[in-house]
Amino acid sequence: MARYTIRVDGSSHTVDADPEMPLLYVLRDDLQLSNPHFGCGLSQCGACTVHLDGKAIRSCSTPISQAAGHDITTLKGLGTEANPHPLQKAYLEEQVPQCGYCINGWIMTAAAFLNTKKKPTDAEIKQALTGLKCRCGTHTAILRAVKRAADSMA
Ligand code: FES
Ligand code: FES
Repeated sequence: MARYTIRVDGSSHTVDADPEMPLLYVLRDDLQLSNPHFGCGLSQCGACTVHLDGKAIRSCSTPISQAAGHDITTLKGLGTEANPHPLQKAYLEEQVPQCGYCINGWIMTAAAFLNTKKKPTDAEIKQALTGLKCRCGTHTAILRAVKRAADSMA
């Protein structure tokens, strides 16, 4: 066990955890943040994605010891109800979610991508989202929403 300080959505938290404890478990179990989801636990579906210093990472396979001292952003910290991130707005406008389980991963991955790429092509968006899984098959609506958000951010 060791003591770690992590900054999540702008607030500092101190947690006692095994160095190998996945960041996802700390976020969900210690900090009660429900947006990053456990899907595969093997870095293969993206449901657990958060930002670490602005980059999309899979929190199920990132140990707390690697996250400590960095800025972590979850979907909750991406925007507010009054001032949503363009992706959150676009997802609502396109009525994307079905069960909603995967949506955290798609939005957090797309948000990190759109921070680095203005006016992406459809092919670039698809490439950036490779490896994410949606069991409800909302892929077409997801791509529409990301494109809509990208256009609004251009
Ligand atoms: S739960 Fe982390 S990638 Fe699937
Ligand atoms: S909306 Fe259900 S898994 Fe994607």
